[in-house]
Amino acid sequence: MSDSPKKATIVKESWDEPLPNETKTKTQTSAGSTSNAGRATDDAVDDSEDLPDDFAEVQKTISGERRRRQSKHIKGIQDLLSFPFSPNIRPLTISDLESCIGLEDAAFANPAHRCSREKFEYRLGVCPELCLGVFCTVIPGKAKGFEINTLRTAHPVETGRKDGAVSVMMAHIISTRSNEELVTDQAMDYPRDFKTREPNTAGLGHQETGRTICIHSLAVDPKLQGCGMGKLIMKAYLQQVKNSNLADRLSLIAQGYLVNYYKRFGFKHVGPSKASFGGGGWHDMTFELGGSPPKQND
Ligand SMILES: CC(C)(COP(=O)(O)OP(=O)(O)OC[C@H]1O[C@@H](n2cnc3c(N)ncnc32)[C@H](O)[C@@H]1OP(=O)(O)O)[C@@H](O)C(=O)NCCC(=O)NCCS
Repeated sequence: MSDSPKKATIVKESWDEPLPNETKTKTQTSAGSTSNAGRATDDAVDDSEDLPDDFAEVQKTISGERRRRQSKHIKGIQDLLSFPFSPNIRPLTISDLESCIGLEDAAFANPAHRCSREKFEYRLGVCPELCLGVFCTVIPGKAKGFEINTLRTAHPVETGRKDGAVSVMMAHIISTRSNEELVTDQAMDYPRDFKTREPNTAGLGHQETGRTICIHSLAVDPKLQGCGMGKLIMKAYLQQVKNSNLADRLSLIAQGYLVNYYKRFGFKHVGPSKASFGGGGWHDMTFELGGSPPKQND
């Protein structure tokens, strides 16, 4: 939750309409299986001249948006990459720990707003099914000029693959469950003895039976920001949670400059948050999946 606003855009439109790529991008469910309503893409690099269909869809979306807004700042993801962008969206595991840390460090300018290594260990250990990542296969030798933190921590796509292809994390969402409707400092925290004590009786961190999914971190690598990556992962996440019936709502705390960003996904602005995490100044935002929405102040 960086304190350095990159965009102060006043945004009025919503993103209620589905992204053309949202059903075509390969998405693994929380159970770990792969669902793909479109073509069966691998995040392996396609060496052919033709770009994958889902990439073309992403491009169309981004180009359309770009034309509509005549924005000089929003670049297509592919414009930034020297290899085909074929996103693989999947739940995270503890093996993604180092990539999550690298991405978080790069994305959040304010260290106080970052999720610590221990918190990542806790969250990826206790509820990995609530955490999602966007990955893309990269052949290091062919990824000229592509230098992001998570390239260094990427895992090989297959053991022994000759081209050395690795699956690189580009964005992540990290969440836990809570019994409260809004994100509290207790939910943002974690039990210090989580490695030795089961179950969690401290009242801190993840509450297994909670019906609120608290999003603690949405992060896109800075080199890839502003070209739809945040929208891609958030829409995939919302779709997955809606389909799973595993919660009543999603809640998060956001700095003021991102309130409009989350509103466009359908989050409601509840008001100033009581959470003092990282120095405070947060706004409560919530996305009701059913039932009556909480009172809003705007
Ligand atoms: C905030 C963040 C996740 C957004 O991801 P992103 O990939 O850069 O954003 P996207 O490209 O998906 O943005 C899509 C749209 O949101 C708009 N947008 C971006 N930042 C915005 C902001 N602060 N307020 C309003 N709209 C914003 C873009 O203009 C774009 O609009 P368009 O689709 O109409 O052209 C990313 O910038 C990031 O990781 N920041 C650092 C970490 C952070 O602050 N995370 C959030 C708090 S947990």
